[in-house]
Amino acid sequence: MKLIGASAVITCDDNFSVIKDGGILFDENKIIKIGKFNELKKMQYIDVRFYESCVITPSLINTHIHFEFSQNTSSLNYGNFGEWLDSVILKRESLMKDSSDAIKTALKETLSCGVGSVGAISSNGLDLEILNQSPLKVLFFNEIIGTNKEYNEKIMNDFNERLEKSLLLTSPNFKSGIALHSPYSLNFELASYAIKKAMEHKLLVSTHFLESKEELMWLEYKKGYFKKFFKRFFNDENALPYYSKESFLRLFKNCESLFVHCLFLNNDDWATISKLNVDIVSCPRSNRLLNNRYFDFLKAKDYRLPLIIATDGKSSNNNLNILDEARVALFAYEQFNINNLAKEILLSITRRPAKRLRFNNGFLEKGRASDFAIFYIKDIENCSQVILNFLLHAKKVEDLYINGKRIDIENY
Ligand code: BEZ
Ligand code: FE2
Repeated sequence: MKLIGASAVITCDDNFSVIKDGGILFDENKIIKIGKFNELKKMQYIDVRFYESCVITPSLINTHIHFEFSQNTSSLNYGNFGEWLDSVILKRESLMKDSSDAIKTALKETLSCGVGSVGAISSNGLDLEILNQSPLKVLFFNEIIGTNKEYNEKIMNDFNERLEKSLLLTSPNFKSGIALHSPYSLNFELASYAIKKAMEHKLLVSTHFLESKEELMWLEYKKGYFKKFFKRFFNDENALPYYSKESFLRLFKNCESLFVHCLFLNNDDWATISKLNVDIVSCPRSNRLLNNRYFDFLKAKDYRLPLIIATDGKSSNNNLNILDEARVALFAYEQFNINNLAKEILLSITRRPAKRLRFNNGFLEKGRASDFAIFYIKDIENCSQVILNFLLHAKKVEDLYINGKRIDIENY
């Protein structure tokens, strides 16, 4: 058993309790007790540590990352979704080539900001081994993409091979999921095949949905940017969308899913999505860079859709620091009371995604996994707005514990 304490323990429990001079007693399996550090210290423990001027939070969760794109710094175009997608198609191969070192660096960056669990979208399986051998808890979403039916068999075989390989690695720290890339990039047969696999293995599904007005234009009016896109890159003069919004959404009626972006929903879409077993994942910086827009968080509240915040990959972000992402959200949503918003945002990177990823973490309570992040925040012991100030100032973890073990981030 170990005991750690800090000036403030942010539990993310039902009451959002913050325990001043709090402590957590834990072993490698789970949290044994939470309370005042001085009370817990009365018994004799071998391993005791109090972190002065620090906060302890549940280890953070980044629900949507494309690690395979970690080589990108300035190779892609921003400011317009179409320009961005064109640049992805042109640079994808070179960005993915020899990406192992960049993936490892991205992984360290992820751990360094206090993230202990991730949802990783994998297009090619290049990140499988690296993630599996990392200290992170991983939900590994095998992605399927493809529009030309001629290649369906090859794509299904390749997808199935990646899926089977990842399923073999299933452990308490590693689970498989399935990602349907998007309605514009996936023909119906491939999408149905992937959904069938998700149902068969009871896997969480992830998809990008209505990220851009170009996608909306394509699905609703069958024209605009994507008409030219399919002609330019796929030599297809007669391309048509494979779905209406409604027919795409129907695919998900019997699964548990994460819908990523959802920037261009109308009231009917909101109503349909709110009836599915879905959480929405928003990536504010990616949305700002590609689509000049932030997710309609107020509307999501109206429909009781809980918000999750994630970074997306380096293909549409300047870094993978989930706390930088949280700060962008904190400043972007000016209509909310700042202290209440800080709580919402913290839940969106802890407790809410934990409910979907199911690693028994995301909040600090007896019986939950011993996954914590500790951050130094100057003068936090005298602070009356701990959560807001945590989000304003935390950048790099002092220490990170996963399954009760302190992670040596530099040398893992
Ligand atoms: C593909 O990689 O097959 C693809 C990507 C974007 C849109 C359509 C297809
Ligand atoms: Fe994404």
